[in-house]
Amino acid sequence: MTILLKTIGLLLLTVVSVNLWWRWASRRRSLPCPTWLASSLESAVMDRLMGTKATLDRIGLQPGQRVLEVGPGPGRLLIPAAKRVSPGGEVVGLDIQPGMVKRLKARAAQAGVANLTAVEGDATQPHFPPEHFDVIWMCTVLGEIPDREAALRQCYTALKTGGRLSITEIFPDPHYQSLSTVQRLAAMVGFQLQAVHGPWFFLTANFDKPALP
Ligand SMILES: C[S@@+](CC[C@H](N)C(=O)[O-])C[C@H]1O[C@@H](n2cnc3c(N)ncnc32)[C@H](O)[C@@H]1O
Repeated sequence: MTILLKTIGLLLLTVVSVNLWWRWASRRRSLPCPTWLASSLESAVMDRLMGTKATLDRIGLQPGQRVLEVGPGPGRLLIPAAKRVSPGGEVVGLDIQPGMVKRLKARAAQAGVANLTAVEGDATQPHFPPEHFDVIWMCTVLGEIPDREAALRQCYTALKTGGRLSITEIFPDPHYQSLSTVQRLAAMVGFQLQAVHGPWFFLTANFDKPALP
């Protein structure tokens, strides 16, 4: 019994230490969620645990919109989002890891989704024309980006005036960002808070890109 308890304690300590180290190191260099973990985001159980439907409801997608997910991974949210913006809408996923982009393309094809484009690239760099998207969202991604402000600046530029930025954070993601951090960073680049949904451990903050005065 004592050995079992010690083993469990040691395992917990290791998991917490790795999470804390990953969180700290991600503020200094890009250490994204590895591609081999992609399959863990693809099950129906994960959809329930991570609130896939609730997150999409909170983002508030409408048919006909052109939308971007920054860091879609294998498309847990982006593939159902493609259906929500139909007819007439299109979804784009921008991910820094080639393996995630490949996986996203394969899963979209398998699901018969034709209005989805997967782009490989770093969210802190420009990839899209200004005023291009109606909605941009990130889910459990912001904390993986060393320069979070630069990524939000790119979102601001790529969004249409009056468009929506939606950020979802889920605890205990090692890169979890609190509401106050999300609000502070978004305000720094010019976004206005529109609404906050959910409790602190599963929050979605929606922001507007306001018209210039
Ligand atoms: C934890 S996964 C989340 C996937 C998806 N948003 C979800 O909630 O199911 C984080 C994703 O963000 C991507 N990512 C991390 N840093 C990025 C960056 N600088 N630019 C674009 N994508 C990035 C990773 O490659 C990974 O696919």
